[in-house]
Amino acid sequence: MKELEKAARAVQQNAYAPYSGFCVGAAILTVTGEVFVGCNVENASYGLTNCAERVAVGSAVAAGHKGIKKVVVITDVDPPAAPCGACRQVLSEFGAGLEVVAIGSKETRSWTIEELLPASFGRKDLNK
Ligand code: THU
Repeated sequence: MKELEKAARAVQQNAYAPYSGFCVGAAILTVTGEVFVGCNVENASYGLTNCAERVAVGSAVAAGHKGIKKVVVITDVDPPAAPCGACRQVLSEFGAGLEVVAIGSKETRSWTIEELLPASFGRKDLNK
Protein backbone atom coordinates (compact mmCIF):
# COMPACT_ATOMS: atom_id res chain seq x y z
CA MET A 1 0.00 0.00 0.00
CA LYS A 2 2.76 2.46 0.87
CA GLU A 3 4.38 1.90 -2.50
CA LEU A 4 1.14 2.67 -4.33
CA GLU A 5 0.52 5.77 -2.23
CA LYS A 6 4.05 6.98 -2.87
CA ALA A 7 3.70 6.44 -6.60
CA ALA A 8 0.34 8.25 -6.67
CA ARG A 9 1.72 11.18 -4.68
CA ALA A 10 4.71 11.48 -6.99
CA VAL A 11 2.63 11.49 -10.17
CA GLN A 12 0.16 13.99 -8.69
CA GLN A 13 3.05 16.46 -8.93
CA ASN A 14 2.92 16.09 -12.70
CA ALA A 15 -0.80 16.84 -12.99
CA TYR A 16 -1.56 19.34 -15.73
CA ALA A 17 -4.48 21.23 -14.22
CA PRO A 18 -4.13 24.93 -15.13
CA TYR A 19 -7.92 25.39 -15.44
CA SER A 20 -9.30 23.64 -12.36
CA GLY A 21 -6.22 23.76 -10.15
CA PHE A 22 -7.40 20.33 -8.93
CA CYS A 23 -4.42 17.99 -9.11
CA VAL A 24 -5.02 14.24 -9.07
CA GLY A 25 -2.59 11.33 -8.98
CA ALA A 26 -3.51 7.68 -9.46
CA ALA A 27 -1.51 4.49 -9.06
CA ILE A 28 -2.75 1.09 -10.17
CA LEU A 29 -1.61 -2.29 -8.92
CA THR A 30 -2.07 -5.03 -11.51
CA VAL A 31 -2.97 -8.60 -10.57
CA THR A 32 0.59 -9.51 -11.49
CA GLY A 33 2.07 -6.95 -9.08
CA GLU A 34 3.15 -4.14 -11.39
CA VAL A 35 2.43 -0.48 -10.71
CA PHE A 36 1.24 2.05 -13.30
CA VAL A 37 0.52 5.71 -12.69
CA GLY A 38 -1.47 8.56 -14.17
CA CYS A 39 -2.30 12.20 -13.48
CA ASN A 40 -5.05 14.41 -14.82
CA VAL A 41 -4.28 16.16 -18.10
CA GLU A 42 -6.50 19.15 -18.81
CA ASN A 43 -7.04 20.98 -22.07
CA ALA A 44 -8.14 24.47 -23.10
CA SER A 45 -11.01 22.63 -24.77
CA TYR A 46 -12.24 21.52 -21.35
CA GLY A 47 -14.15 18.43 -22.48
CA LEU A 48 -10.93 16.84 -23.71
CA THR A 49 -9.57 16.56 -20.17
CA ASN A 50 -8.32 13.14 -19.14
CA CYS A 51 -8.72 12.02 -15.54
CA ALA A 52 -5.79 10.56 -13.62
CA GLU A 53 -7.45 7.15 -13.21
CA ARG A 54 -8.09 6.73 -16.93
CA VAL A 55 -4.56 7.82 -17.81
CA ALA A 56 -3.25 5.15 -15.40
CA VAL A 57 -5.53 2.48 -16.85
CA GLY A 58 -4.39 3.37 -20.37
CA SER A 59 -0.79 3.11 -19.31
CA ALA A 60 -1.33 -0.35 -17.76
CA VAL A 61 -3.23 -1.67 -20.76
CA ALA A 62 -0.65 -0.25 -23.19
CA ALA A 63 2.00 -2.22 -21.30
CA GLY A 64 -0.04 -5.40 -21.72
CA HIS A 65 -1.86 -5.55 -18.36
CA LYS A 66 -5.60 -6.12 -18.29
CA GLY A 67 -6.18 -7.19 -14.68
CA ILE A 68 -6.30 -4.52 -11.98
CA LYS A 69 -6.35 -5.33 -8.29
CA LYS A 70 -6.20 -1.94 -6.62
CA VAL A 71 -6.12 1.76 -7.41
CA VAL A 72 -5.01 4.56 -5.11
CA VAL A 73 -6.23 8.06 -5.96
CA ILE A 74 -4.69 11.12 -4.33
CA THR A 75 -6.40 14.50 -4.12
CA ASP A 76 -5.91 17.43 -1.78
CA VAL A 77 -9.48 17.52 -0.48
CA ASP A 78 -11.33 16.02 2.46
CA PRO A 79 -13.34 13.92 2.39
CA PRO A 80 -11.12 12.40 -0.30
CA ALA A 81 -12.60 12.58 -3.81
CA ALA A 82 -13.95 9.35 -5.23
CA PRO A 83 -13.39 8.59 -8.93
CA CYS A 84 -15.86 10.24 -11.31
CA GLY A 85 -18.51 8.17 -13.08
CA ALA A 86 -16.53 7.80 -16.29
CA CYS A 87 -13.50 6.53 -14.38
CA ARG A 88 -15.65 4.06 -12.41
CA GLN A 89 -16.91 2.61 -15.66
CA VAL A 90 -13.41 2.35 -17.13
CA LEU A 91 -11.96 0.81 -13.96
CA SER A 92 -14.78 -1.73 -13.81
CA GLU A 93 -13.78 -3.05 -17.23
CA PHE A 94 -10.50 -4.33 -15.82
CA GLY A 95 -11.14 -5.23 -12.22
CA ALA A 96 -13.91 -7.35 -10.78
CA GLY A 97 -13.57 -6.84 -7.01
CA LEU A 98 -11.10 -4.04 -7.60
CA GLU A 99 -10.32 -2.05 -4.47
CA VAL A 100 -10.48 1.73 -4.81
CA VAL A 101 -8.63 3.76 -2.18
CA ALA A 102 -9.04 7.54 -2.08
CA ILE A 103 -6.56 9.56 -0.05
CA GLY A 104 -7.22 13.22 0.73
CA SER A 105 -5.24 15.72 2.74
CA LYS A 106 -6.16 14.03 6.03
CA GLU A 107 -8.59 11.18 5.47
CA THR A 108 -8.61 7.92 3.53
CA ARG A 109 -11.69 6.15 2.17
CA SER A 110 -12.01 2.88 0.32
CA TRP A 111 -14.62 0.92 -1.58
CA THR A 112 -14.89 -1.95 -3.99
CA ILE A 113 -15.64 -0.97 -7.56
CA GLU A 114 -19.01 -2.72 -7.18
CA GLU A 115 -19.91 -0.38 -4.32
CA LEU A 116 -19.02 2.63 -6.44
CA LEU A 117 -20.74 1.34 -9.58
CA PRO A 118 -23.58 -1.02 -8.74
CA ALA A 119 -25.56 -2.71 -11.51
CA SER A 120 -22.88 -1.72 -13.97
CA PHE A 121 -22.91 -2.16 -17.71
CA GLY A 122 -20.18 -4.52 -18.79
CA ARG A 123 -19.04 -7.16 -21.21
CA LYS A 124 -21.63 -9.59 -19.83
CA ASP A 125 -24.30 -7.35 -21.34
CA LEU A 126 -22.71 -7.84 -24.73
CA ASN A 127 -22.50 -11.60 -24.15
CA LYS A 128 -18.69 -11.32 -24.17
N1 THU B 1 -10.43 14.41 -12.13
C1 THU B 1 -9.68 13.27 -12.10
O1 THU B 1 -8.51 13.26 -12.48
N2 THU B 1 -10.27 12.14 -11.64
C2 THU B 1 -11.57 12.04 -11.23
O2 THU B 1 -12.04 10.95 -10.95
C3 THU B 1 -12.37 13.25 -11.09
C4 THU B 1 -11.81 14.47 -11.70
C5 THU B 1 -9.82 15.64 -12.64
C6 THU B 1 -10.38 16.10 -13.95
C7 THU B 1 -10.09 17.58 -13.90
O3 THU B 1 -8.77 17.80 -14.39
C8 THU B 1 -10.10 17.93 -12.43
O4 THU B 1 -10.02 16.69 -11.73
C9 THU B 1 -11.36 18.67 -11.98
O5 THU B 1 -12.50 18.02 -12.39
